[in-house]
Amino acid sequence: QIVDRLFNASQAEVKLAEKLEIDRTIIVAGDSDLQGRVYDLAGEELNSALNLLLPLSDCIVTVMGGKTIAKVAKKLTPSLSENRKIKFVPGRGALGGRVNTESNAIVQEMARATGGSYESLFLPEQVPKDAYRSLLHDPEISEVLQDISRSDVVIHGIGLADEMARRRGYDPLALAKLRENKAVTECFGCFFDDEGHVVERIRQVGLQFETLTNVPHIIAVAMGARKAEAIQAYMRNAPHQTWLITDEAASNLILNGK
Ligand code: G3H
Repeated sequence: QIVDRLFNASQAEVKLAEKLEIDRTIIVAGDSDLQGRVYDLAGEELNSALNLLLPLSDCIVTVMGGKTIAKVAKKLTPSLSENRKIKFVPGRGALGGRVNTESNAIVQEMARATGGSYESLFLPEQVPKDAYRSLLHDPEISEVLQDISRSDVVIHGIGLADEMARRRGYDPLALAKLRENKAVTECFGCFFDDEGHVVERIRQVGLQFETLTNVPHIIAVAMGARKAEAIQAYMRNAPHQTWLITDEAASNLILNGK
């Protein structure tokens, strides 16, 4: 039943995937900006997609942070671990402040919900230049980085550039520079303009945007009318093996401009 639903994409899902030039989109009903239950629907779809895409063996799921991923994580189920052993790995360190939406916390939630295991990446998300190289050689960190490089699936959100910069404590000058560079969206520590070009990046230990092309499956979860432009911008240069889980509000805006 689940597999049927995933193979039988609706017309809108096919159109959206074609427009964004990615392998698959899954559209759930509603607008997450107005209805909280939309996150539950998206979480159920994420569970189904993982069930379909993950190999039936030991596997690694790397998870980025953010409010959306924190919400959908709650809908994963133990059925995912019936025929496989899943290890959830954080894709980046901590942002500071919002502990529940950091990837370290989300991997714990996902492991708890599915009966899988998890790793932790204990370091700040933004790393000073001189510390960066030595951190890469730290044995615990390099073990996590190796696991990230062997990911079967990466799960990530798509952020609004301004909002993400504020969460990272950008001062007014840095915010103004970001706007001058026409940044629309942020993913993997990279800020992208509406053409999908990286216009600024944060030096961070963890999953890098450029290495995503080597990951067999990528699942982006981003919803709500306010995210439509950000989704479209990020998808301009996203790896084709990306699946997008979104809602009708964002999808209608991308497809019809309304
Ligand atoms: O890096 C981008 C974030 O994953 C977006 O997070 O779901 O809190 O908007 P959000």
